Amino acid sequence: MKLTIDELSVFCKKKGFIYPSSEIYGGMSGFFDYGPLGVELKNSIKAEWWKAHVHDRDDVVGIDGSIITNPKVWVASGHVGSFTDAILECGKCGSKTRADHFIEDKLKMDTAGLPLEQINSIVKSHKLKCGKCGSAFKDAAGFNLMFQTNVGPAEGSTSYLRPETAQVIFADFRQVTDTTRIKLPFGIAQIGKAFRNEISPRDFLFRCREFEQMEMEYFVSPDQANSCPYVNEVLDYELLVLSAEMQQKKHAAKKMKIREALDKKVIKTQWHAYWLAFEHKWFSSLGISHDNMRIRQHFDEEKSHYALDTWDIEYNFPFGWKELQGMANRTDYDLSQHMKHSGKDLSYYDEEKKARVTPHVVVEPSQGVERAFLAFVNEAYNDDKERGNIVLKLHPKLAPYKAAVFPLVSNKPELTSKAKEVYLSIKPEFNIYWDASGSIGRRYARADETGVPACITVDFKTLEDDTVTVRSRDTTKQERVKISELKKALTDFLNKK
Ligand code: GAP
Repeated sequence: MKLTIDELSVFCKKKGFIYPSSEIYGGMSGFFDYGPLGVELKNSIKAEWWKAHVHDRDDVVGIDGSIITNPKVWVASGHVGSFTDAILECGKCGSKTRADHFIEDKLKMDTAGLPLEQINSIVKSHKLKCGKCGSAFKDAAGFNLMFQTNVGPAEGSTSYLRPETAQVIFADFRQVTDTTRIKLPFGIAQIGKAFRNEISPRDFLFRCREFEQMEMEYFVSPDQANSCPYVNEVLDYELLVLSAEMQQKKHAAKKMKIREALDKKVIKTQWHAYWLAFEHKWFSSLGISHDNMRIRQHFDEEKSHYALDTWDIEYNFPFGWKELQGMANRTDYDLSQHMKHSGKDLSYYDEEKKARVTPHVVVEPSQGVERAFLAFVNEAYNDDKERGNIVLKLHPKLAPYKAAVFPLVSNKPELTSKAKEVYLSIKPEFNIYWDASGSIGRRYARADETGVPACITVDFKTLEDDTVTVRSRDTTKQERVKISELKKALTDFLNKK
């Protein structure tokens, strides 16, 4: 049976992954804290993303920009004017709700991106009323999702907490190209906090008001959108595809190789196809099953104001298929806007063309850390009836603790001191913990529940031959390993997946 999002959030709280923020004061909707295990998992997700997108590649560099910028950035980007969601306000009790979610819940109808007039006409024709007091709504209005703040003591110095990390990349574009030797096509990546004053945060971490993004803007020469030198690497990669046309015709998602999607022009450009496959592979390499991921194209009316074409990687969350990662073709919209508003030249000298060009962001893989976190935990969660406990089968690269070390029993000083010796010898190289309390079965169960891939036990045989047992979380099988070879054995074990 599918886990519910409430069960998942209870599990995350109980095990120290995620806490409601400031809970002692009643919490704050849309804000969460990462506990001791959560911060490890979150840091590992970010480290794996950075490695795959920046360190392992020659064509991507990173930055870490400020959260608050000159507010003109957000005027130029269009966020001040159009980063809004439609809100419904009750004419009597004044309670406010996000229009598309309200309609979706009531009528099971997808209204993403619908203009206000259409929302009003749906509300009227279906006689939708306030969920709190049953009275009629006022006409739907736009609500800007940016948090405002005052910078310094001067009045009128309003700025915004960034609602996406992307704009900082565009604002820094010239500085990055001036200070590195990166050549088109190239990407600029960033991981950092983003803030959105969501009207109705919901589904645990899925829609929060403070979250983190892992984003990359990938720039190419304007006429090179369909010319990706890496496309051969992914042509035979297969994934579940749901184009806008398939959705219109009410067709189900179909398994397709990238080659077929490009040949049939389902995906329009090689770059879009390459990065969709790259990101899908990244998730799959860290444990998300292909059956639980699909790529879905946005309808025209659903696309953001800057996007030419957008595909999402969707995950089959406990509450259904929803966006895990967005991937828009932003064209030269942002660089052009910033040139217009700042008066600065953000064009780039293309050595091949011997001309200055305004590069196109042919694709922007934009991933929320919280949604990745949710997907990884959901995927890993196994209620093992035979063992009688949860087994959190996180990929070893993501597991908060890589191993635990136990003495078989805790009342034999010779075992405890030998086990401590083993523990201290590997602790500098692996994030591991010590556990000597309760029965060995209880300790294995505790480790399973928090995703510890390997448990190392020092038993009476250890005292005779300097070997320990290494128990696998996933199979419960135990192997005897010489203490002198433990570091290598553990490294091999963790890299096996
Ligand atoms: N720069 C493009 C951009 O920000 P987006 O689709 O609005 O596009 C990108 O957001 C990703 O950020 C989403 O796919 C999701 O993973 C994450 N995200 C967006 N809003 C979020 C929220 N309120 N809570 C958690 N994650 C969110």
